[in-house]
Amino acid sequence: MIKKGIILAGGHGTRMSPLTKAVNKQLLPIYDKPLIYYPLSILMLAKIKDILIIINKGQLNQYKKLLPNGDNLGIKITYKEQSYPKGLPDAFILGDNFIGKNNVALILGDNFFYGQSLSKTLLNCVKLKNGAKVLLHKVSKPELYGVAKIKSKNKIISIKEKPKKYFSDLAITGLYFFDKDVVKFSKQLKPSKRGELEITDLLNKYKKKHKLYADYIGRGGAWLDTGSIEDFYKTSAFVSAIENRQGFKISCIEEIALNNKWIGSKNIKSAIKFYGKCQYSEYLKKLI
Ligand code: G1P
Repeated sequence: MIKKGIILAGGHGTRMSPLTKAVNKQLLPIYDKPLIYYPLSILMLAKIKDILIIINKGQLNQYKKLLPNGDNLGIKITYKEQSYPKGLPDAFILGDNFIGKNNVALILGDNFFYGQSLSKTLLNCVKLKNGAKVLLHKVSKPELYGVAKIKSKNKIISIKEKPKKYFSDLAITGLYFFDKDVVKFSKQLKPSKRGELEITDLLNKYKKKHKLYADYIGRGGAWLDTGSIEDFYKTSAFVSAIENRQGFKISCIEEIALNNKWIGSKNIKSAIKFYGKCQYSEYLKKLI
């Protein structure tokens, strides 16, 4: 069982400037809650309780105001500052001590996942013992992502980062599961032409050893990108449409903790006090 997870929430969010000049992108709102709640909730749905959040240097105080240490969610949150973004695999180099000899999940701080059977898929993914597993999702613009070509459902034969020429429409989403070799492999990587360590190079190391596996976010599930301002508003509109129609909140981290039986009504009451008089608190009140 994978019991540790990393959220990579560094990066300058240049494409969203000036919104990101003073505030970390993951603290900006997707509809009614900060973006960071969405990837955090995915790890919590995977029953991962030990979480490292990688943030930019100088942003620790912003984060601690919102998510101090995870106590009120029945989880453990620790932080690590990154001086500048060096590519996704840097998460494992920075997370070396946190990971130790354990398997680990990585989710990108700006990735949004939603769907009926998502929890089931996640609980299956954390069973990974050896190798690496990625979640694939069909997209109409594969050139924007890491892309995988498959032979049979679970066999990936080739992967490429942002291929200019069409090669497959299966994007590699920003949620990865790795065995303990990930730290060693990440340290062996060399920066690519754009000067960064590439996740596809890391995944290729596993592929060479025939240890790269795939699972899927099917067509009934949503994987949305929040990389640009346009995407941010589209994702907000998606969350607003579903939440207002159903009356349920997507990625209410306290609700997930309560459902997982990691916390009780006492914690919900203190969360209500923490958030103050707002719509989010009204929702929490209904949970207890
Ligand atoms: C990164 C990865 C890419 C992956 C994507 C998912 O791209 O390099 O392989 O498909 O995240 O969001 P970036 O967002 O850095 O362009």
